[in-house]
Amino acid sequence: MAEKKAGAAKTKAASTKEKKVKKTSAVARRSKAATEKKIVTPAAEPVKAAPVKAEPEVSPETATFRRRLARHMDELRWLYMELYNNGSMFAELCDQMEAFYNDRSASLKAIDDKREQAPDWYKGNDMLGMQLYVDNFADNFKGLQNKLDYIQRCSVNYIHLMPFLETPEGRSDGGYAVADFRKVQDKLGTNEDLKNLTDACHEKNINVCMDLVMNHTSEDHEWAKRARNGEGEYMSRYFFYDNADIPSKYEETVPQVFPTTAPGNFTYLPEIGHFVMTSFYPYQWDLNYRNPRVFNEMMYNFLYLANQGIDIFRLDAVPYIWKTLGTQCRNLPQVHTIVRMMRMIGEIVCPGIILLGEVVMEPEKVVPYFGTVDKPECHMLYNVTTMATTWHTVATRDVSLLKKQLDIVDSLPKEYVFLNYLRCHDDIGWGLDYNTLRGQGVGEVSHKKYLNDYFRGYAGSSNSRGELYNEDFVTGDARFCGTTASMCGVERAGFEDNSDMMDSAIREDIMLHAYMFMQSGIPVLYSGDEIGQVNDYTYKADPHKVEDSRYIHRGKFIWENAAKIDDEGSVQQRLFSAIEKLVEIRKSEKAFVTDADSWTIDTWEREVLCMGRYYDGDKIIGLFNFSEHDKTAWINETDGDYVDLMTGKVMKAQGVDIPAYGFLWLKKTDDPEAEVQSEEKL
Ligand code: GLC
Repeated sequence: MAEKKAGAAKTKAASTKEKKVKKTSAVARRSKAATEKKIVTPAAEPVKAAPVKAEPEVSPETATFRRRLARHMDELRWLYMELYNNGSMFAELCDQMEAFYNDRSASLKAIDDKREQAPDWYKGNDMLGMQLYVDNFADNFKGLQNKLDYIQRCSVNYIHLMPFLETPEGRSDGGYAVADFRKVQDKLGTNEDLKNLTDACHEKNINVCMDLVMNHTSEDHEWAKRARNGEGEYMSRYFFYDNADIPSKYEETVPQVFPTTAPGNFTYLPEIGHFVMTSFYPYQWDLNYRNPRVFNEMMYNFLYLANQGIDIFRLDAVPYIWKTLGTQCRNLPQVHTIVRMMRMIGEIVCPGIILLGEVVMEPEKVVPYFGTVDKPECHMLYNVTTMATTWHTVATRDVSLLKKQLDIVDSLPKEYVFLNYLRCHDDIGWGLDYNTLRGQGVGEVSHKKYLNDYFRGYAGSSNSRGELYNEDFVTGDARFCGTTASMCGVERAGFEDNSDMMDSAIREDIMLHAYMFMQSGIPVLYSGDEIGQVNDYTYKADPHKVEDSRYIHRGKFIWENAAKIDDEGSVQQRLFSAIEKLVEIRKSEKAFVTDADSWTIDTWEREVLCMGRYYDGDKIIGLFNFSEHDKTAWINETDGDYVDLMTGKVMKAQGVDIPAYGFLWLKKTDDPEAEVQSEEKL
């Protein structure tokens, strides 16, 4: 009853909100008129100049908004009308942009201004991200606010807070089924706590990232509830069909996201005799972006959240947001139109924010989400193929595919910024370049099986531990879950109390971080990786989680272990201090900036990868041994002496020995005394 009442109150609030937005402001009316005019006026007619009327004085803030709006107006209107051909909805959008701009706090506006002046602010070599679940890390927002010192101790200046908006318990997909885009989960605190947290983060120069789950809502979202009640207005915000004809046509071409845990792309709702599109779990209903109301409202949610102090928006599952029968419903051109519009809307209302696209696809599908240099879409994208290829390299001890992949990334324009990572909250999908592998006699299905066996510790000389995810018995496909440390052998070595194995696991783990930090872009750690946190099997006791093995790497952060980062010789101290040192070096060496030149060098040794970076006179090369044996990298850099940035030792970059799972970051030095000095130091 209480729930019903709350629901009714919300409904009322929602409809008042919608009524309110219908009142258009002067800006909106102007833009509406302009829209209509633009569409109907034949271009060739010469227009007589109207007598110039003196514009009334406006505040500097309004002037700023108008300047930003004017910069994008033509293109935004053009794209909107192309997609929706609806002038009044466009006018409403403009009106709301102005309203959200007016609501934006002075401190956020100050950040916007600063970043507008320095649009490359996020590309520095000091950027380090960490993704974490608020409850796993510190119970709630207040707890997290109290732990910001630890975040700073990790040198992290960007935290990705995993989904924290209202979501139904047990039908949440880790929070990716959002029931209310404007309310945080009760267990995490209040909206005010979130605002306090973002303020506290900004004071410490920490950026806050959140997910904007665009593709779907929870079935408990107000719209979904009303759609389930048969209200046409709300049904039109989703994909509803009263028989199986169209759904089964979609099924012919649309792949499945969760073939085992949630097969199919539609769910039948017996209470109203309709099918609804559910690409992910049955309780996640796909939004219909053909309806401009959906686009507008989602943009208002985006701007609302931006005004709560969010700096980085991760556009969750963005390739899926537009659906067309007869296609795979992935990466359709309209998706790019929508992302481009979001970029402009952000630049008009809150230019301090950045868009991070979650495009877990092959490289040729990912890169278009950067847009063009003139018409950019996302600021940043996940370097997903490189991540998967990294683990392939761990399992095969063969760097050739990784070298090829890095060469592709290195050849892209430097404006493109990738988010680099070893592990995230999701499974590893083994999206590799199988065309190349086939040329080497490696088949897709058998290789995926090998990788999954390897990382479960069944094949090769593997010490890894982890579990399969969404094993598809039809295609033979399966994905993999586990933490970085478990995949490197820390879990097994700890369990077997084997110190040699632990040494090797720690070396491998550190080497992988050193390699990841050497890539162009922004590195993001997965919370717990900095202390070697291993898999957590307790999810199996939770009926809501047991079916989803991704929870194996979403365990609670173990503060008792974090307390050991200063205990000399502990696993935590060895990993933490090595990563800390790498981050410090990365920050102090300009060759690590995102837009440095980067390339790979052949080492003539199957297991050893060599990467180079050059920026403004500084050159660094990195050597990474992906095997458990000592190796020699047969490189031949004849341009002088190099200094090992980890030890200070001066050496030649020619025929370099690298211990098992070792690495070197070598910087070219012009100091003629360097060799002598370092000999003394050693
Ligand atoms: C993204 C998330 C994943 C979630 C899915 C559906 O891929 O990373 O965790 O299950 O979107 O929202």
